[in-house]
Amino acid sequence: MLKTFDIDEVKEGMFVDSIAKQQGKLKVTSRGRINSLAAIKQLKKKGILSVVVDMSKQLKPEVAEQEESKSPAEVPAISAKVSFEAELQVATKLHNKGKNLQKSMLQSIGKNLPVDIAIPKAFTNNLVSSIDRNPNALMCMTKIREKDTYLLEHSLNVAILLANFGTYIDLPEEQVQELALSGFLHDIGKIKIPDEILHKPGRLNDQEMTIMKDHVYYGTKVLIEMGIPDLIVKTIGQHHERLDGYGYPDGLRGDEITLFGRMIAIVDTYDAITADRCYKVGMSSKKALQILLQDAPEKYDEGLVTQFVQCIGVYPAGSLVKLSNEKIAMVLKQHPVHSTKPLVKVFYSIRGNHYLEPKELDLATVVNGVKIVDAVIASDFKLDFNKYFNESIVV
Ligand SMILES: [Fe+2]
Ligand SMILES: [Fe+2]
Repeated sequence: MLKTFDIDEVKEGMFVDSIAKQQGKLKVTSRGRINSLAAIKQLKKKGILSVVVDMSKQLKPEVAEQEESKSPAEVPAISAKVSFEAELQVATKLHNKGKNLQKSMLQSIGKNLPVDIAIPKAFTNNLVSSIDRNPNALMCMTKIREKDTYLLEHSLNVAILLANFGTYIDLPEEQVQELALSGFLHDIGKIKIPDEILHKPGRLNDQEMTIMKDHVYYGTKVLIEMGIPDLIVKTIGQHHERLDGYGYPDGLRGDEITLFGRMIAIVDTYDAITADRCYKVGMSSKKALQILLQDAPEKYDEGLVTQFVQCIGVYPAGSLVKLSNEKIAMVLKQHPVHSTKPLVKVFYSIRGNHYLEPKELDLATVVNGVKIVDAVIASDFKLDFNKYFNESIVV
């Protein structure tokens, strides 16, 4: 039985069949269960005025709560204002530009030359705009990793992830821009660390670690000299602080660490764990998120970690998944409600051990029961992810 409800009457547990009335031209994928108040908030934000609810599929509130607790990531991702394909063209250029900009800034700072802060500021503002148009495009780009360019890609990724995170938790645009700029500049002090320590293939000993920790001091010092606003310097100064007081450089605890300081700590750790380095293979996003959840609330803000998981999803755009039909796919787009049922591109057969003609598959609508079995990483199957991405995704 179908019944139309005003958006203010929509409750958790209801199954939305379609949109009845909405403002604006934003395309909304609406079918699915409302699993949280955040989902209702997102619908309102998208200009939805009323929805058609399938009353036969309605859950009692307590069941809806159970379903939500089983899968905390099932809240809507940021809606897309333009198509993935269109935004990917912009995101690809931004990604290349970001790496080049990071490189030239590091070179200038390494030679004690002045840096015009207006340039990275304009660049990170463009990142924020891209995330606002369609977050999946730049999120996919964060999975492109090349050997020997860790610092460039890591700083860019932290900026992209913070832009996404800040937008997701509804911070004002100006604050999201400040966060993205903080991410882009957060490890700039590493240029002052000797190469043999910075690029050491393996764990640093205590003495080397003490030297490495100074990158926070060097970074903030350079940024103060460049006239960067206090808020950004403070955020960067806190990216290695931890809530239990065991972080550095000041061993700050709990409330002494700002909201931005807590956010950058989460995002910085997530990107470092998922990165391939010359001495280690990066973990899957899912594993990285599990580690962050385990280390909360001692080291990381539990509420923020949960929101970060909800923001990027258990299977973020650009990550690889193994499907129940023994095929590998790349996640293209989050489902607006169910993060375990994204739109994916299937491209590799595990049984046949060969690439397939890439084909999109919407896991929310498949009828043959194909589902995600687990998150995987390219090296598990000896896949050249960058080559596949450049040849089959960016067209
Ligand atoms: Fe750092
Ligand atoms: Fe970092």
